[in-house]
Amino acid sequence: MSSEPVLSLRDVRKSFGSVSALASVSIDAFPGEVHAVVGDNGAGKSTTVKIITGLHAPDGGSIELLGEPLSHRRSTAGLHEHGISVVYQDLALVECLDIATNLTVGRLPRRFGFLLDRKAMRRDAQAVLDDLNVRVKDVSTPVGLLSGGQRQIIAIARAVRLDQPLLLLDEPTAALGVQETAHVGEIIDRLKEQGKTIVCISHDLDFVFRHADRVTVLRLGRSVGTRLTRETTRAEVVGLITGALSRDLDGAA
Ligand SMILES: Nc1ncnc2c1ncn2[C@@H]1O[C@H](COP(=O)(O)OP(=O)(O)OP(=O)(O)O)[C@@H](O)[C@H]1O
Ligand SMILES: [Mg+2]
Repeated sequence: MSSEPVLSLRDVRKSFGSVSALASVSIDAFPGEVHAVVGDNGAGKSTTVKIITGLHAPDGGSIELLGEPLSHRRSTAGLHEHGISVVYQDLALVECLDIATNLTVGRLPRRFGFLLDRKAMRRDAQAVLDDLNVRVKDVSTPVGLLSGGQRQIIAIARAVRLDQPLLLLDEPTAALGVQETAHVGEIIDRLKEQGKTIVCISHDLDFVFRHADRVTVLRLGRSVGTRLTRETTRAEVVGLITGALSRDLDGAA
Protein backbone atom coordinates (compact mmCIF):
# COMPACT_ATOMS: atom_id res chain seq x y z
CA MET A 1 0.00 0.00 0.00
CA SER A 2 2.76 2.44 -0.88
CA SER A 3 0.69 4.59 -3.25
CA GLU A 4 -2.27 6.82 -2.55
CA PRO A 5 -5.70 5.34 -3.19
CA VAL A 6 -7.43 6.27 -6.43
CA LEU A 7 -10.76 6.02 -4.68
CA SER A 8 -11.31 6.39 -0.98
CA LEU A 9 -14.65 6.06 0.81
CA ARG A 10 -14.68 6.93 4.48
CA ASP A 11 -17.64 6.11 6.71
CA VAL A 12 -20.17 6.66 3.94
CA ARG A 13 -23.80 6.50 5.10
CA LYS A 14 -27.09 6.48 3.27
CA SER A 15 -30.71 5.95 4.24
CA PHE A 16 -33.76 5.75 2.01
CA GLY A 17 -36.55 6.99 4.26
CA SER A 18 -36.48 4.64 7.23
CA VAL A 19 -34.33 2.05 5.41
CA SER A 20 -30.64 2.30 6.28
CA ALA A 21 -28.90 1.12 3.11
CA LEU A 22 -25.38 2.08 4.19
CA ALA A 23 -24.51 2.33 7.88
CA SER A 24 -20.77 2.86 7.42
CA VAL A 25 -18.83 1.98 4.31
CA SER A 26 -15.11 2.56 3.95
CA ILE A 27 -13.20 1.34 0.88
CA ASP A 28 -9.76 2.21 -0.50
CA ALA A 29 -9.00 1.19 -4.08
CA PHE A 30 -5.39 1.55 -5.18
CA PRO A 31 -3.92 2.31 -8.62
CA GLY A 32 -3.76 -0.69 -10.91
CA GLU A 33 -5.72 -2.96 -8.66
CA VAL A 34 -8.86 -4.96 -9.11
CA HIS A 35 -10.83 -4.39 -5.93
CA ALA A 36 -13.80 -6.69 -5.45
CA VAL A 37 -16.75 -5.75 -3.28
CA VAL A 38 -18.80 -8.70 -2.06
CA GLY A 39 -21.74 -9.22 0.27
CA ASP A 40 -25.19 -10.72 0.49
CA ASN A 41 -28.25 -9.39 -1.32
CA GLY A 42 -29.17 -6.02 0.12
CA ALA A 43 -25.76 -5.51 1.77
CA GLY A 44 -25.45 -2.13 0.07
CA LYS A 45 -23.15 -2.87 -2.87
CA SER A 46 -25.17 -1.19 -5.62
CA THR A 47 -25.98 1.75 -3.37
CA THR A 48 -22.25 2.20 -2.80
CA VAL A 49 -21.65 2.29 -6.57
CA LYS A 50 -24.47 4.80 -7.08
CA ILE A 51 -23.05 7.04 -4.37
CA ILE A 52 -19.60 6.95 -5.97
CA THR A 53 -21.10 7.95 -9.33
CA GLY A 54 -23.24 10.69 -7.80
CA LEU A 55 -26.57 9.05 -8.61
CA HIS A 56 -27.36 9.16 -4.89
CA ALA A 57 -26.08 11.78 -2.45
CA PRO A 58 -24.69 10.25 0.75
CA ASP A 59 -26.04 11.34 4.14
CA GLY A 60 -22.55 11.41 5.61
CA GLY A 61 -18.95 10.39 5.22
CA SER A 62 -16.49 11.37 2.51
CA ILE A 63 -15.48 10.21 -0.95
CA GLU A 64 -12.14 11.12 -2.47
CA LEU A 65 -11.00 10.54 -6.00
CA LEU A 66 -7.24 10.90 -6.49
CA GLY A 67 -7.03 12.76 -3.20
CA GLU A 68 -9.72 15.30 -4.15
CA PRO A 69 -13.05 15.24 -2.33
CA LEU A 70 -15.92 14.40 -4.65
CA SER A 71 -18.74 16.83 -4.18
CA HIS A 72 -21.89 15.16 -2.95
CA ARG A 73 -23.99 17.18 -5.30
CA ARG A 74 -22.65 16.72 -8.78
CA SER A 75 -24.34 15.65 -11.94
CA THR A 76 -23.83 12.14 -13.26
CA ALA A 77 -23.36 13.75 -16.67
CA GLY A 78 -20.00 15.05 -15.45
CA LEU A 79 -18.90 11.62 -14.29
CA HIS A 80 -16.34 11.17 -17.03
CA GLU A 81 -14.69 14.45 -16.17
CA HIS A 82 -13.98 12.89 -12.79
CA GLY A 83 -12.34 9.92 -14.50
CA ILE A 84 -14.98 7.32 -13.74
CA SER A 85 -16.86 4.97 -16.01
CA VAL A 86 -19.50 2.59 -14.74
CA VAL A 87 -21.65 -0.37 -15.64
CA TYR A 88 -24.68 -0.48 -13.35
CA GLN A 89 -26.31 -3.72 -12.29
CA ASP A 90 -29.64 -2.52 -13.64
CA LEU A 91 -28.37 -2.03 -17.16
CA ALA A 92 -28.33 1.34 -18.77
CA LEU A 93 -28.35 0.47 -22.46
CA VAL A 94 -30.99 1.96 -24.71
CA GLU A 95 -32.95 -1.04 -26.01
CA CYS A 96 -34.37 0.55 -29.13
CA LEU A 97 -30.95 1.71 -30.35
CA ASP A 98 -28.53 -0.52 -32.18
CA ILE A 99 -25.22 -1.76 -30.75
CA ALA A 100 -23.14 0.84 -32.57
CA THR A 101 -25.27 3.72 -31.31
CA ASN A 102 -25.23 2.40 -27.76
CA LEU A 103 -21.46 2.14 -27.89
CA THR A 104 -21.13 5.73 -29.02
CA VAL A 105 -23.84 7.42 -26.97
CA GLY A 106 -22.38 10.56 -25.45
CA ARG A 107 -19.68 10.90 -28.05
CA LEU A 108 -21.42 10.52 -31.39
CA PRO A 109 -19.22 11.26 -34.40
CA ARG A 110 -20.59 14.11 -36.52
CA ARG A 111 -19.93 15.15 -40.08
CA PHE A 112 -19.98 18.85 -40.96
CA GLY A 113 -20.59 19.48 -37.27
CA PHE A 114 -24.20 18.28 -37.20
CA LEU A 115 -24.82 15.22 -39.40
CA LEU A 116 -24.46 11.96 -37.54
CA ASP A 117 -21.74 9.98 -39.24
CA ARG A 118 -23.28 6.50 -39.05
CA LYS A 119 -20.55 4.88 -41.09
CA ALA A 120 -17.84 6.17 -38.78
CA MET A 121 -19.96 5.12 -35.84
CA ARG A 122 -20.31 1.54 -37.05
CA ARG A 123 -16.62 1.38 -37.88
CA ASP A 124 -15.71 2.71 -34.42
CA ALA A 125 -18.07 0.31 -32.68
CA GLN A 126 -16.72 -2.65 -34.64
CA ALA A 127 -13.16 -1.66 -33.76
CA VAL A 128 -14.02 -1.43 -30.05
CA LEU A 129 -15.63 -4.87 -30.10
CA ASP A 130 -12.78 -6.40 -32.13
CA ASP A 131 -10.29 -4.96 -29.69
CA LEU A 132 -12.12 -6.65 -26.81
CA ASN A 133 -12.53 -9.83 -28.81
CA VAL A 134 -16.31 -9.51 -28.64
CA ARG A 135 -18.14 -11.17 -31.53
CA VAL A 136 -21.45 -9.80 -32.74
CA LYS A 137 -22.99 -10.56 -36.12
CA ASP A 138 -23.87 -6.98 -36.92
CA VAL A 139 -23.37 -3.76 -34.97
CA SER A 140 -26.66 -2.50 -36.48
CA THR A 141 -28.62 -5.03 -34.38
CA PRO A 142 -30.91 -3.31 -31.86
CA VAL A 143 -29.74 -4.04 -28.33
CA GLY A 144 -33.32 -5.13 -27.46
CA LEU A 145 -32.79 -8.22 -29.62
CA LEU A 146 -29.68 -9.39 -27.76
CA SER A 147 -29.58 -11.87 -24.88
CA GLY A 148 -28.98 -10.59 -21.34
CA GLY A 149 -25.39 -11.81 -21.50
CA GLN A 150 -24.70 -10.17 -24.85
CA ARG A 151 -26.12 -6.90 -23.56
CA GLN A 152 -23.90 -7.12 -20.53
CA ILE A 153 -20.82 -7.48 -22.70
CA ILE A 154 -21.87 -4.50 -24.83
CA ALA A 155 -22.39 -2.43 -21.67
CA ILE A 156 -18.91 -3.39 -20.46
CA ALA A 157 -17.43 -2.60 -23.89
CA ARG A 158 -19.04 0.81 -23.73
CA ALA A 159 -17.61 1.55 -20.30
CA VAL A 160 -14.16 0.31 -21.33
CA ARG A 161 -14.26 2.47 -24.46
CA LEU A 162 -14.52 5.60 -22.32
CA ASP A 163 -10.97 4.79 -21.20
CA GLN A 164 -11.20 6.28 -17.71
CA PRO A 165 -8.71 5.56 -14.90
CA LEU A 166 -11.46 4.14 -12.65
CA LEU A 167 -13.97 1.57 -13.83
CA LEU A 168 -16.90 0.49 -11.64
CA LEU A 169 -18.58 -2.79 -12.51
CA ASP A 170 -21.70 -3.91 -10.62
CA GLU A 171 -22.17 -7.66 -11.05
CA PRO A 172 -20.61 -7.74 -14.53
CA THR A 173 -20.90 -11.51 -14.86
CA ALA A 174 -24.28 -12.17 -13.21
CA ALA A 175 -26.06 -12.73 -16.53
CA LEU A 176 -23.15 -14.46 -18.26
CA GLY A 177 -22.34 -18.03 -19.24
CA VAL A 178 -19.03 -19.72 -18.44
CA GLN A 179 -17.28 -18.59 -21.61
CA GLU A 180 -18.54 -15.02 -21.43
CA THR A 181 -17.56 -14.81 -17.76
CA ALA A 182 -14.04 -15.90 -18.64
CA HIS A 183 -14.02 -13.27 -21.36
CA VAL A 184 -14.98 -10.50 -18.96
CA GLY A 185 -12.22 -11.77 -16.68
CA GLU A 186 -9.73 -11.39 -19.55
CA ILE A 187 -10.94 -7.84 -20.21
CA ILE A 188 -10.50 -6.98 -16.52
CA ASP A 189 -7.01 -8.51 -16.45
CA ARG A 190 -6.05 -6.45 -19.49
CA LEU A 191 -7.36 -3.20 -18.04
CA LYS A 192 -5.41 -3.89 -14.90
CA GLU A 193 -2.25 -4.41 -16.95
CA GLN A 194 -2.90 -0.97 -18.44
CA GLY A 195 -2.82 0.44 -14.90
CA LYS A 196 -6.55 1.06 -14.53
CA THR A 197 -8.29 0.70 -11.21
CA ILE A 198 -11.30 -1.57 -11.29
CA VAL A 199 -13.88 -1.81 -8.54
CA CYS A 200 -15.90 -4.91 -9.26
CA ILE A 201 -18.97 -6.01 -7.37
CA SER A 202 -19.53 -9.71 -7.65
CA HIS A 203 -21.18 -12.54 -5.80
CA ASP A 204 -19.05 -15.01 -7.75
CA LEU A 205 -16.21 -15.85 -5.37
CA ASP A 206 -14.43 -17.98 -7.99
CA PHE A 207 -14.29 -14.91 -10.18
CA VAL A 208 -13.21 -12.72 -7.27
CA PHE A 209 -10.37 -15.01 -6.29
CA ARG A 210 -9.24 -15.40 -9.89
CA HIS A 211 -9.20 -11.72 -10.85
CA ALA A 212 -9.24 -9.45 -7.78
CA ASP A 213 -6.20 -8.32 -5.80
CA ARG A 214 -8.20 -7.15 -2.84
CA VAL A 215 -11.69 -7.77 -1.57
CA THR A 216 -13.91 -5.71 0.71
CA VAL A 217 -16.89 -7.38 2.35
CA LEU A 218 -20.10 -5.46 3.01
CA ARG A 219 -22.57 -6.77 5.51
CA LEU A 220 -25.83 -5.03 6.41
CA GLY A 221 -24.56 -1.73 5.03
CA ARG A 222 -21.15 -1.90 6.72
CA SER A 223 -17.71 -2.67 5.38
CA VAL A 224 -16.68 -5.43 7.75
CA GLY A 225 -13.29 -6.31 6.34
CA THR A 226 -10.79 -5.88 3.53
CA ARG A 227 -8.32 -8.58 2.56
CA LEU A 228 -5.71 -9.22 -0.09
CA THR A 229 -7.11 -12.18 -2.01
CA ARG A 230 -3.73 -13.92 -1.92
CA GLU A 231 -3.72 -13.68 1.86
CA THR A 232 -7.26 -14.82 2.58
CA THR A 233 -9.43 -17.85 1.95
CA ARG A 234 -12.93 -18.38 0.66
CA ALA A 235 -13.92 -19.60 4.11
CA GLU A 236 -12.79 -16.35 5.69
CA VAL A 237 -14.59 -14.24 3.09
CA VAL A 238 -17.77 -16.31 3.44
CA GLY A 239 -17.48 -15.92 7.22
CA LEU A 240 -17.33 -12.13 6.83
CA ILE A 241 -20.28 -12.13 4.42
CA THR A 242 -22.51 -14.19 6.69
CA GLY A 243 -21.37 -12.59 9.93
CA ALA A 244 -19.84 -15.75 11.34
CA LEU A 245 -16.69 -13.65 11.72
CA SER A 246 -18.59 -10.57 12.78
CA ARG A 247 -16.28 -9.82 15.69
CA ASP A 248 -13.60 -9.21 13.10
CA LEU A 249 -14.45 -5.65 12.26
CA ASP A 250 -11.36 -4.24 10.66
CA GLY A 251 -12.30 -1.76 7.96
CA ALA A 252 -15.50 -0.85 9.76
CA ALA A 253 -15.76 2.47 11.49
N1 LIG B 1 -33.71 3.64 -4.29
C1 LIG B 1 -33.95 2.96 -3.15
N2 LIG B 1 -35.00 3.24 -2.36
C2 LIG B 1 -35.22 2.58 -1.21
N3 LIG B 1 -34.44 1.59 -0.76
C3 LIG B 1 -33.38 1.25 -1.50
C4 LIG B 1 -33.08 1.92 -2.73
N4 LIG B 1 -31.94 1.37 -3.25
C5 LIG B 1 -31.57 0.41 -2.38
N5 LIG B 1 -32.42 0.34 -1.33
C6 LIG B 1 -32.30 -0.56 -0.17
O1 LIG B 1 -30.97 -0.45 0.31
C7 LIG B 1 -30.47 -1.72 0.69
C8 LIG B 1 -29.22 -2.01 -0.09
O2 LIG B 1 -29.55 -2.22 -1.45
P1 LIG B 1 -28.46 -2.46 -2.59
O3 LIG B 1 -29.17 -2.47 -3.90
O4 LIG B 1 -27.35 -1.50 -2.42
O5 LIG B 1 -27.96 -3.92 -2.21
P2 LIG B 1 -26.96 -4.88 -3.01
O6 LIG B 1 -25.87 -5.25 -2.07
O7 LIG B 1 -26.56 -4.26 -4.30
O8 LIG B 1 -27.87 -6.17 -3.24
P3 LIG B 1 -27.90 -7.20 -4.49
O9 LIG B 1 -26.84 -8.22 -4.20
O10 LIG B 1 -29.25 -7.81 -4.39
O11 LIG B 1 -27.69 -6.45 -5.76
C9 LIG B 1 -31.61 -2.70 0.47
O12 LIG B 1 -32.28 -2.85 1.69
C10 LIG B 1 -32.48 -2.00 -0.55
O13 LIG B 1 -33.81 -2.42 -0.43
MG1 LIG C 1 -26.83 -4.78 -6.23
